[in-house]
Amino acid sequence: MKAIRYHEVGEVDVLKYEEVDMPEIGDDEVLVRVRAASLNHLDLRLRAGKSPRPVELPHIGGVDAAGDIEAVGKNVADLAPGTRVVVDPTIKTPKGPSVMGVNFYGGFAEYLKIPATNVVPIPDEVSYDDASTLPICYVTAAYGLYDRGGLQKGETVLVHAAGSGTGSAAVQVAKEGGATVIATAGSDEKLEKVKEIGADATINYNTQDFAEEVKKITEGKGVDLIFDQVGASAWDNNLKSVKAKGRILLVGVVGGGQTTFNFGPVIMRDLSILGVTVFNAPRQSLINAINLVSKNGVKPVIDKTFPLSEAAQAQKMLEDRSQFGKVILNP
Ligand SMILES: NC(=O)c1ccc[n+]([C@@H]2O[C@H](COP(=O)([O-])OP(=O)(O)OC[C@H]3O[C@@H](n4cnc5c(N)ncnc54)[C@H](OP(=O)(O)O)[C@@H]3O)[C@@H](O)[C@H]2O)c1
Repeated sequence: MKAIRYHEVGEVDVLKYEEVDMPEIGDDEVLVRVRAASLNHLDLRLRAGKSPRPVELPHIGGVDAAGDIEAVGKNVADLAPGTRVVVDPTIKTPKGPSVMGVNFYGGFAEYLKIPATNVVPIPDEVSYDDASTLPICYVTAAYGLYDRGGLQKGETVLVHAAGSGTGSAAVQVAKEGGATVIATAGSDEKLEKVKEIGADATINYNTQDFAEEVKKITEGKGVDLIFDQVGASAWDNNLKSVKAKGRILLVGVVGGGQTTFNFGPVIMRDLSILGVTVFNAPRQSLINAINLVSKNGVKPVIDKTFPLSEAAQAQKMLEDRSQFGKVILNP
């Protein structure tokens, strides 16, 4: 089969479109013919060797994938070849999560193998492209905002990097739940698109002081919840933007993973600082994400699709921060 594999970490040119042995499935596994695999910031960090948990080389990335069941192992009775599925990339083990595209070969290939218990059938009205956006971004958004953040209808949420895959999903998921959404991004062009997907107010964090803007927009009240994928560079302003008893979700660190920490405001204003990792989300979050698309009519935000052979150009788009929402490979 064809796959995008890398034998060393580095720039996008380490990604090789090459012939790789077909995966051999075990008795409890299924072989999936991949139709769509969406890209995540995580893929870039792994490929660049910037993840604290390096991958074993050679490696095939791709944490998010959807396709058709091609073959099933001997013990798999409830899934037939031809079934359209999306893959839950996380295998929960006593030692912690083992993740497709991180700990073993992923979806940037024509075929992948995975335990049968890790695939979820998708209804006909959910396209492969749409399904491939769900397991990381939409699950992170839903698990973060509701399971971790306890978002309530009528609350105000500040979503950072709202043009990213995860940020655009968080805007849609929060709006769907009846929240008011203030969204930040790095360009006015992205902010226009963020409004189109439902944000009530927008802030350009490169040209405006977002804490000042949040203050104006909320008439001095601040927000109830912050969905933060930026990290260190947003930390001080996050503390100024959240209201007393508010919650800050730490989701990502594109703006740095370490900063000094002033305990005072957190203690004095009863703030909650909550970590979020999608790899701890329950399976139900993925099922809910599928329903969001099939039943609630949420349209995942997809910027561009590429053939598998053009994975390097696709990753470059993310690296240049030029995408809005998701970028997808179609093997
Ligand atoms: N905790 C979890 O379970 C979880 C799950 C999914 C993602 N994440 C994290 O969330 C973050 C976003 O992931 P994603 O896949 O949605 O990202 P993505 O689609 O690649 O978008 C990242 C966006 O972040 C913004 N950004 C701000 N500072 C940046 C910087 N220094 N370098 C690059 N981008 C920067 C850019 O938007 P602007 O141009 O608007 O600034 C960029 O488009 C990552 O840190 C990722 O690891 C965490």
